[in-house]
Amino acid sequence: MFQRLGKTIILLFVLVNLQLNFVTTLLEEPKQNTQESIADALQAFGLTNFVSLLCKSQLLGLFQGIGDQFTVFAPTNDALPQNCRQLLETNITSLENLLLYQIIPTGGFTTGNLINNIQPARTANFTTLEGSRLPIHLLHNGSLRIGYNNVSILRANIVAFSSVVQITSGLTLPSYLINNKDVLQTCPRTVSS
Ligand SMILES: *[C@@H]1O[C@H](CO)[C@@H](O)[C@H](O)[C@H]1NC(C)=O
Ligand SMILES: *[C@@H]1O[C@H](CO)[C@@H](O)[C@H](O)[C@H]1NC(C)=O
Ligand SMILES: *[C@@H]1O[C@H](CO)[C@@H](O)[C@H](O)[C@H]1NC(C)=O
Ligand SMILES: *[C@@H]1O[C@H](CO)[C@@H](O)[C@H](O)[C@H]1NC(C)=O
Repeated sequence: MFQRLGKTIILLFVLVNLQLNFVTTLLEEPKQNTQESIADALQAFGLTNFVSLLCKSQLLGLFQGIGDQFTVFAPTNDALPQNCRQLLETNITSLENLLLYQIIPTGGFTTGNLINNIQPARTANFTTLEGSRLPIHLLHNGSLRIGYNNVSILRANIVAFSSVVQITSGLTLPSYLINNKDVLQTCPRTVSS
């Protein structure tokens, strides 16, 4: 009898604990891979097409350090098919500029940090490593839209030391590329779920 009561108490204790853990998990910003460089995190999440462009433009080294506080918007593989990569690789200087445009050099922003930074106006411009402005909007349902072409975040808050990678549905285009038909037709968006 006492033994059974003991077991029930232990079971209740475990259940309450599970519940608490669940609530804490929901409240906290997810933090994974904190001991990896950005380059390692990109590999770990299988972003091989983005990594391949970084290699072509010799920018991968930028992502191997551990002291930066970058916010990196990294497109999925589907958003960078081979014909898109071939098009972008025809001019390495403009490829480099476009890749640097995917990076906010300060902050290491989680989506929560981004939202705090753009309230209450629900929109703000961030300066990219390329030098020009990256607008970010907060929609009324809480989703963020990144860049002039409004790409969305498909996988948020991958922490790599002090930097954060946000996996996006597509390349965010600087204002000078927003009407570039070649880029728009060959570099698609990942269809978000
Ligand atoms: C490559 O892109 C740069 C920067 O956009 C531009 O200044 C240059 O003229 C381009 N080169 C060629 C060969 O098109
Ligand atoms: C962001 O920059 C654009 C120009 O590129 C400007 O029109 C807009 O007002 C700026 N937005 C904010 C919130 O400062
Ligand atoms: C938020 O609204 C946008 C635009 O209407 C939509 O594409 C997106 O799926 C919505 N996100 C959520 C989490 O409901
Ligand atoms: C991006 O979203 C903003 C704000 O909702 C809207 O004004 C703009 O037309 C959109 N641009 C594109 C290219 O979808």
